[in-house]
Amino acid sequence: MNSQEIRSKYLEFFKDKNHKIVASAPMVIKDDPTLLFTNSGMNQFKEFFLGNTEPKHLRVADTQKCLRVSGKHNDLEEVGKDTYHHTMFEMLGNWSFGDYFKVEAIAWAWEFLTEVCKIDKNSLYVTVFEGSNDADQLGQDAEALELWKKIVPESQILFGNKKDNFWEMGDQGPCGPCSEIHVDIRSDEEKAKVSGASLVNNDHPQVVEIWNLVFMQYNRKANGQLEVLPAKHVDTGMGFERLCMVMQGVKSNYDTDVFTPIIREIETITNSSYGKSEETDIAIRVIADHIRAVSFSIADGQLPSNTGAGYVIRRILRRAIRYGFTFLDTKEPFMYRLVKTLSDTMGKSFPELKSQKGLIENVIKEEENSFLKTLDQGLVLLDTMIASSKSKEIDGRKAFELYDTYGFPIDLTALILQERGFSLDEKGFDKAMQEQKNRSRSASEISKEDWTVLSKDMEQEFVGYDLLQTNVKLVKYRKVTSKKDGEQFQLVFNVTPFYPEGGGQVGDKGYLEASNGTIIYITDTKKENNEIIHFSENLPDNVTETFKAVVDEKQRQSTEANHTATHLLHQALREILGTHVEQKGSAVHSKYLRFDFSHFSKVTAEQLIDVENFVNARIDGNLPLQENRAVPMQQAIDAGAMALFGEKYGDAVRTIRFGKSIELCGGTHVKNTGDIWHFKITSEGAVASGIRRIEAITANAAKEFYFENNRILSEVKALLSNASNPVKTITSLQEENSKLKKEIESLQKDKAKNLKGDLQTEIQSLNGIDFLAKKVDVDAAGIKDVSFEMGQNKDNLFLVLAAENEGKVVLSCYISKELVAARNLNAVTVVKELGKYIQGGGGGQAFFATAGGKNADGIEEAIQKAKDYLR
Ligand code: ALA
Repeated sequence: MNSQEIRSKYLEFFKDKNHKIVASAPMVIKDDPTLLFTNSGMNQFKEFFLGNTEPKHLRVADTQKCLRVSGKHNDLEEVGKDTYHHTMFEMLGNWSFGDYFKVEAIAWAWEFLTEVCKIDKNSLYVTVFEGSNDADQLGQDAEALELWKKIVPESQILFGNKKDNFWEMGDQGPCGPCSEIHVDIRSDEEKAKVSGASLVNNDHPQVVEIWNLVFMQYNRKANGQLEVLPAKHVDTGMGFERLCMVMQGVKSNYDTDVFTPIIREIETITNSSYGKSEETDIAIRVIADHIRAVSFSIADGQLPSNTGAGYVIRRILRRAIRYGFTFLDTKEPFMYRLVKTLSDTMGKSFPELKSQKGLIENVIKEEENSFLKTLDQGLVLLDTMIASSKSKEIDGRKAFELYDTYGFPIDLTALILQERGFSLDEKGFDKAMQEQKNRSRSASEISKEDWTVLSKDMEQEFVGYDLLQTNVKLVKYRKVTSKKDGEQFQLVFNVTPFYPEGGGQVGDKGYLEASNGTIIYITDTKKENNEIIHFSENLPDNVTETFKAVVDEKQRQSTEANHTATHLLHQALREILGTHVEQKGSAVHSKYLRFDFSHFSKVTAEQLIDVENFVNARIDGNLPLQENRAVPMQQAIDAGAMALFGEKYGDAVRTIRFGKSIELCGGTHVKNTGDIWHFKITSEGAVASGIRRIEAITANAAKEFYFENNRILSEVKALLSNASNPVKTITSLQEENSKLKKEIESLQKDKAKNLKGDLQTEIQSLNGIDFLAKKVDVDAAGIKDVSFEMGQNKDNLFLVLAAENEGKVVLSCYISKELVAARNLNAVTVVKELGKYIQGGGGGQAFFATAGGKNADGIEEAIQKAKDYLR
């Protein structure tokens, strides 16, 4: 079976068992502060487990793109070194939300593996949670044990501890005991020598876990305690690439058809061959793995960057580039050339790879170019470090600086040092790294108290599309403390008019009014795990009463104008630049809007004007808002609504329509485009290769912009004595100015010529030398010209000149070359000596040197000293 067929078999199997097959959620997570990336199939269902949201289907199955590169589940450093770990992988999963439990989960897993996949029963091992003696005090999973005993010989059932058999999503969240299924794919000969049971969970590349069946029963709370969940659930995850390895009878995930086309392409591009040496094999596997992680992230809208999820992606890409650089000798960008093969092999199941191919290639190529530059610069810096090092051990702090400031990878530093017979002071490096981590940790650390829950059964409702104020009751609250924001409270209400930050739009601000008139300001609103969280600086005195919740209407209105304008801008760009334009990010604030989109060249000034005109025409057209809060997804797409890749949409979606602009959107909008008043672009530029950014303003901000411009124009006119055409007047002033500049230059030249004549007459003979020291009235260039001209045809001149121009003092010394030689004189020594009096320093050559200074009062003294010096 090829990988495509294996994937389908799995989904069909669970479809037959009444599971709803759903789409993979985006790999990059947008509204969960506890996770950057989807690290498991269950992430998108977290709220169902916790009981915060009711699922539509009690049984669900899918294949989920996962990335395990940060937080609790991080495999990054293993990847490439072994043959069965990945950064990005597909997790096949089936779920029960309070429906079936261990009986079915265990029976179906066994049925699928042994009957559908026909994996030899004797090569499978299952594990059962043995219980824990720590603070959690959990018992053995006797129920799972009994169930397994009915289908698997006891010799193939093993017990596991908390690390292997108690699965947790992160530091907080749903968790429970689990049973893993491992498969032994070694040859019979090897199996006879060493028992498979002894190799389970022992990092053996051919005795690997393929499926994990988690029995979700608990919620790990912020304070570390376990809370029993209201219902029992099943969460399973099978490594798709590992299943392919088993089914295709190969010994490594990288030998399955999921990876071989990419590996062949790497071999061609880098002129290497897989299977020749361990070192190049690791590099090839790293690249084959990382190109997937990076491409899928970019397709999900997460570009490499300097912070957060973007930084993780940048590091993954750099890790691959560096392996290529070091072991495959790739000195030019090459990763981007793999995107085509990836999109050919996986584009069918993940169409975003196909539609975003050009963008993914561009972004990767740009990153490669800039990192290769970094590597080049780093190599130079490292050379200097080696050359100037007094010992054979390179200072760890210096190496850290190279890593931290220039992004030069430390393992590359260590490797190069080793090749040159040097070593790295690793302790110093680790120390510097730790210090930096401590610094950034303490800056970002947030401590959260557990929620104080006032009411359990109230459903949260958002009424902010229709109302800007309403009566609310507190459902729960907690205190959070961070260095950045200090002490804050997070409040959750039963119903709220406050829009939580999302879809690019900022969260609402406003206030709560208690019955005694006390006001509690709401400083921001965000969504976390499907709950709307309101931030405030203090807590109401009486938390159980009813409050009037009021949204800051002004801010909301200007934000809405910007949000609607963003939709019109999107439409305009697709109309004017072409349908390759896709939204890549947006920020809708009350004061301005920002819109990032794919487009490969600068938007010209004419196009920008066309875009403004397009949007303004729709504003002038007074188009009414047509909102539909629950349209079936397919119907919305068929109607032409624009959906963004990397966004998670439910089955029913909300559509926002203004004339011909239709978007899937959860944000808030003006009732009529006329409310936007005017749209004005303030900037256009590049954010990354192939991604442009437009910033614009509307409504009051646009008014203020024009008022301000008008004020400036009035001032300009007044300065120009109320010229009727200020542009013309300024142009002629500029012309006049440049003419005057030229005249001054030529006058300066004349002046220097005249000066020469005057100075000739003042030369004195001192100790047989033609000497003159004098303050003159020319600029620095003039001083040089005069000195050189006077020195012509003279073998006996010692000339010191000084001048002051706009507070700057320049002092020069000219000594005829013959005199320099005959008397062992040096103009540099002279200007250094005399420079002291004008508070300056300088240099030059033995026959001519200058010093610049700032003390004009010292000129006379310097001239006097020149005479003394020569005497
Ligand atoms: N959530 C479980 C895992 O990721 C199935 O292993």
